[in-house]
Amino acid sequence: MSASASASASAAADATATNATKKTINLLRGWPSPALLPAGLLSGAAQRLLADPAVYVPALQYGPDAGYQPLREGLARWLGRHYGVTPDAGRICITGGASQSVACVLQSFTDPVATRAVWVVAPCYHLMCPILEDAGFAGRLRATPEDEEGMDLDALERKIRDLEEREKDLPPTESFKGDRPGRKLYRHVIYVVATCSNPSGKTMSLRRREGLVRLARKYDALIISDDVYDFLQWPISGALTPERPPEMRVPRLCDIDLAMGFEEGDTEGFGNAISNGSFSKIAGPGVRTGWVEASPAFVKGLSMTGSSRSGGAPSQMSAAILSDLVHSGELEKHIETAVRPGLQRRHRIAMDAIHRYIAPFGALVRESSLLRSHTYGGYFIWLTLDMGIQTKVIAEAALEEENLIIGSGDMFEVHGDEASAKFDSAIRLCFAWEPEEDLVEGIRRLGDLLHRTQQDKGRYEAQASRREQDKDYVNAIK
Ligand SMILES: Cc1ncc(COP(=O)(O)O)c(C=O)c1O
Repeated sequence: MSASASASASAAADATATNATKKTINLLRGWPSPALLPAGLLSGAAQRLLADPAVYVPALQYGPDAGYQPLREGLARWLGRHYGVTPDAGRICITGGASQSVACVLQSFTDPVATRAVWVVAPCYHLMCPILEDAGFAGRLRATPEDEEGMDLDALERKIRDLEEREKDLPPTESFKGDRPGRKLYRHVIYVVATCSNPSGKTMSLRRREGLVRLARKYDALIISDDVYDFLQWPISGALTPERPPEMRVPRLCDIDLAMGFEEGDTEGFGNAISNGSFSKIAGPGVRTGWVEASPAFVKGLSMTGSSRSGGAPSQMSAAILSDLVHSGELEKHIETAVRPGLQRRHRIAMDAIHRYIAPFGALVRESSLLRSHTYGGYFIWLTLDMGIQTKVIAEAALEEENLIIGSGDMFEVHGDEASAKFDSAIRLCFAWEPEEDLVEGIRRLGDLLHRTQQDKGRYEAQASRREQDKDYVNAIK
């Protein structure tokens, strides 16, 4: 062993020995910091609601299928003002949050036979894959790469055309679900996070959005855009203002779809793009409430999903509490005075630490969400390393030696189509969860680890391969 390798081995041994005394730092968890939760506001709204039978009786009963009407109206006004579109409560359906909502959308508007594939932006929000798989699409998720501007439309169209070409001589496909009133079955689904994406942090440019809607129309595709970070954008430096510049209000895919008018063949007016919104990141994930904005026909069809027919729209009580805060403007004020400044600060702290501790190892990091803008948003920073070692190995060593949890790029590959878009040199870091000082400490620990890895790559790779062998052995004797 060379002198430098032996020094790094003993550094690693020291690191492992002190791991137990190091506080766990979790830069994988995509939750809001407890400091950003509006507990006082929610408590006030809940007390007002529960003191007035005119409000609490409907709030505690089964709700209408499309959701708590005052919240639909409040959201329509708020979203209309924000995006410069005409408020229309008929375009809003209340949901149980973005995850539950996708499950319902798939129940009503897709079919495991008639819908040929789900095109998923890669890298992807990893927890979306099981939702898509549970709807019958296991093995039919297709990774669609991004470039600097967002989803690569040429690549997507090529892939869709190839699939159509391969399947054109198959016998005509019957649908599994058949015709159901108020619903339609799309031939394709396209899943994206158009603004401040999880995990890449990217915002898709306007021209890409327009191209994507045109493409969806051409191939009878439904675009589901998880727009859960739209309100969480800020200038990279400088003061925050409540008025957002246009680069923080890029039209949603559903707005572009609306502006293009319905396709000739779309006689019922379902449209081809929906916005999947959520209160998780602007109030708290535990409220389990969100909304879909789409054409009125789509919203009606979504509200006819069996589980909403039986139980009414989900999260009725939470929706009523949130409605109070939306109408009074208190939630918006909370976002302006606490959430956006808090995230702006955390992002700056994390980026400073990355430039200091990680950049020296040749890491590439995206500085702004929208290309050529000065804005960032969301919860995540995506780094790409060029060290010739898989970040999965680094993530395992980070846990073992540094008590540090990070997301390695392979986690964000599209299930079942991993080979089409590999991310084994990437790392996702969340700056929303841990306290500010732990963001710096965690990134510093990662820098220390990268230093040791650079010194002695072989040892880390050997350790990783031993771990794999152990796993295989345990699986074999199970
Ligand atoms: C892109 C994206 N979609 C959906 C969700 C989950 O949303 P919800 O809590 O509303 O189910 C998250 C949470 O991290 C997310 O990042």
